[in-house]
Amino acid sequence: MRVACLGGGPAGLYFAISMKLRDPRHEIVVVERNRPDDTFGWGVVLSDDTLDNLAANDPTSAAAIRAHFAYWDDIAVHYKGRNTVSSGHGFCGIGRRQLLTLLQQRARDLGVELRFETEIESAQHYADRYDLVVASDGINSGVRREFAEHFNPDVEVRACKFVWLGTQARFDDAFTFIFERTEAGWVWAHAYQFDKNTATFIVECAEETWSNIGFGEMTAEDSIATCERIFGDYLGGHRLVSNAKHIRGSAWLNFHRVLCEKWSYKNIVLMGDAAATAHFSIGSGTKLALESAIALAEYLHSEPSMQVAFERYQDQRRLEVLRLQSAARNSTEWFEQVERYLDLDPVQFNYSLLTRSQRISHENLRLRDRKWLESAEAWFQRKAGAPANTVRAPMFAPFELRGLQLKNRVVVSPMAQYKAVDGCPTDWHLVHLGERAKGGAGLVFVEMTCVSPEARITPGCTGIYAADHEAAWRRIVEFVHSETEAKICCQLGHSGPKGSTRLGWEGMDVPLPSGNWPVMAASQVPWSDRNQIPKAMEESDIAMVRDQFVAATEMAQRAGFDMLELHCAHGYLLSSFITPLSNKRTDAYGGSLENRLRFPLDIFHAVRAVWPDDKPISVRISANDWIGNDGVTPKDAVEIARLLQAAGVDICDVSAGQTSARAEPVYGRMFQTPFSDRIRNETGMATMAVGNIYEPDHVNSILMAGRADLVCLARPHLADPYWTLRAAAALGDRQEKWPEPYHAGRDQLWRLAERGEGVTMKV
Ligand SMILES: Cc1cc2nc3c(=O)[nH]c(=O)nc-3n(C[C@H](O)[C@H](O)[C@H](O)COP(=O)(O)OP(=O)(O)OC[C@H]3O[C@@H](n4cnc5c(N)ncnc54)[C@H](O)[C@@H]3O)c2cc1C
Ligand SMILES: Cc1cc2nc3c(=O)[nH]c(=O)nc-3n(C[C@H](O)[C@H](O)[C@H](O)COP(=O)(O)O)c2cc1C
Repeated sequence: MRVACLGGGPAGLYFAISMKLRDPRHEIVVVERNRPDDTFGWGVVLSDDTLDNLAANDPTSAAAIRAHFAYWDDIAVHYKGRNTVSSGHGFCGIGRRQLLTLLQQRARDLGVELRFETEIESAQHYADRYDLVVASDGINSGVRREFAEHFNPDVEVRACKFVWLGTQARFDDAFTFIFERTEAGWVWAHAYQFDKNTATFIVECAEETWSNIGFGEMTAEDSIATCERIFGDYLGGHRLVSNAKHIRGSAWLNFHRVLCEKWSYKNIVLMGDAAATAHFSIGSGTKLALESAIALAEYLHSEPSMQVAFERYQDQRRLEVLRLQSAARNSTEWFEQVERYLDLDPVQFNYSLLTRSQRISHENLRLRDRKWLESAEAWFQRKAGAPANTVRAPMFAPFELRGLQLKNRVVVSPMAQYKAVDGCPTDWHLVHLGERAKGGAGLVFVEMTCVSPEARITPGCTGIYAADHEAAWRRIVEFVHSETEAKICCQLGHSGPKGSTRLGWEGMDVPLPSGNWPVMAASQVPWSDRNQIPKAMEESDIAMVRDQFVAATEMAQRAGFDMLELHCAHGYLLSSFITPLSNKRTDAYGGSLENRLRFPLDIFHAVRAVWPDDKPISVRISANDWIGNDGVTPKDAVEIARLLQAAGVDICDVSAGQTSARAEPVYGRMFQTPFSDRIRNETGMATMAVGNIYEPDHVNSILMAGRADLVCLARPHLADPYWTLRAAAALGDRQEKWPEPYHAGRDQLWRLAERGEGVTMKV
């Protein structure tokens, strides 16, 4: 086969090598515009795993690469005058020039023709003359541009500015992050040694900071001198150096995230950065290029035709890229939003940085560096007010809100049971809530409990508007208080436009077959075509509902609840006022965000006035309507939280969605936690995170990174009321209190857990 590799970076060279190894008869040329040793960039990072893959493909070049590796185990973070070092991270780095020299040599030895200083003008030219053309011409691929309508590239320009520099200052003891505050904003560096004398030094900052400093108008020399001044304390008198003379101006770039839909066209195939990129902060671009080269070479020799090989190559590599790009997106966004975290304590900041891609979990950090993680856990417990020298997982740290003391950070999220009779909770609720309170969670929510018969979602929903309701709730609360250490929160709500519907399992949000009651909302916007058109609330309705909330609050107080939550999420009445999707009012309750929050805040002030001072109130919101800019966005949610905070709400329960039947939520592990993170770290307000959080590891990492103060689990508590006690057993924590009658079961579970049995929970 006659093959032309257009571009002599890692992808093109390693593909040429991989093809020759599989069949020396292939005629291969690598075409490259640069000279052999003049390359942009400094070091690249590869993992041991990648090296193993390379060794399986070509032991010779892998051994040569390994011989030139710089290894380091630590990550150091310089921030606010503190240098925090954690260990066990296992990186290896190599100079880009060194890597390319080794690959060029190996390719030559195998008989590949290397044609340097040759500009590729047109891929078609090569496609007409070769059997196979590999577009390995990097992130700004001209080949991709030439056939853009076939490859359909999706290119996203990321927000930060960065410049890739080198230095002879020593960073040989750790992969180093340095965060420096300048008058114009924060600037940070990613630095790592890649040979005896040289380290990569990538400088990055927000575009605004970059403009404020004036980098855009500077010459390359001035720009470097400015970076030297900013990071002078870490450079020990050494210079920063650029080798990007081919880039105009001061060589600052925005990272381009590239992903092509199609990776081949006729006999042309994309590889490496030309096909897809991974942000440099997760150091995987070269890995992707090298592993793609192996995959394509392999398929070309195992599949019946070139087209089938291309298809298999695209299927396999695109999936791998998507996985990496998802981790890279988390990491990229973390740096783009880093200013949000710069008020965190250095311990928490460090943890947040290390777990930014969400690929490294809490327990994974324990495996890497137990001592460091335990010191971070001890810090967390100390901050939470735990007794001195407590070292326990963050989920077992106490939490205080006004006079409410929670023994741990696990919350049973509110969950409708549809088991009430005429609004009155039954023995079902006593057993259901009693079990969850016995199960170890620090705080148990009751389901949305409605302030009037018409406020119920379904005929099976609980209420708190009649004397028998109050008595039934008191019985439940008294059980929780007398038999467990859990606290219990009453979630008050009104169904609004989603009312008068069937029990959950008979059809969610579907109107009753008969006996429907009239519903009301902010405006005459029905939940869906089949739901009633609600009445737009008049002033008198507004006053009536406010009074109902107040009466319900007084009952909740007499029933003994420890905390109150106003349900302002999920499209119910108060939520219908907040989201512009259902609030079309032109009076003081519609229009601006302030106006849309007026009614929920009126209610808050009214209930706050009758709720005891030492008991907290939370508000649950939908932080994202999942409908784009027409609805509430995560950015709006920050403003909503600011208004709640200013009104005196103690904690924001950050849910999302269920406000529009047209919503397109993006589900995933902990998918709503970023909204809580954003609110907590942009406003300083306490938050609860919720949504597909199901492992102790999720809970611990959310808390430790400062993404929430409490963590709510709903469905996991339906499957297992004892989720918290089991989590403690799985983590080897022996301090959570079990009910006395269950001690025999506890002891057996602990013994089994020590042997790795009995507890199937992943930690
Ligand atoms: C700041 C920064 C830091 C990085 N750090 C890491 C890291 O730590 N680890 C990691 O794995 N990756 C890292 N990367 C990414 C890594 O450099 C790339 O992912 C990798 O080089 C991709 O290899 P490639 O062969 O596809 O493209 P490239 O290495 O870009 O090679 C493309 C080649 O094509 C040539 N070319 C382009 N157009 C033409 C033309 N018209 N005519 C002739 N020749 C042409 C170019 O000269 C170049 O040599 C980093 C990237 C950046 C920007
Ligand atoms: C059966 C069921 C009933 C629910 N009822 C309520 C409710 O009454 N009030 C509320 O705010 N959220 C309610 N939710 C939402 C949960 O509190 C939680 O936000 C959601 O299930 C996501 O958490 P999870 O992934 O841990 O289940 C309910 C969820 C379920 C599964």
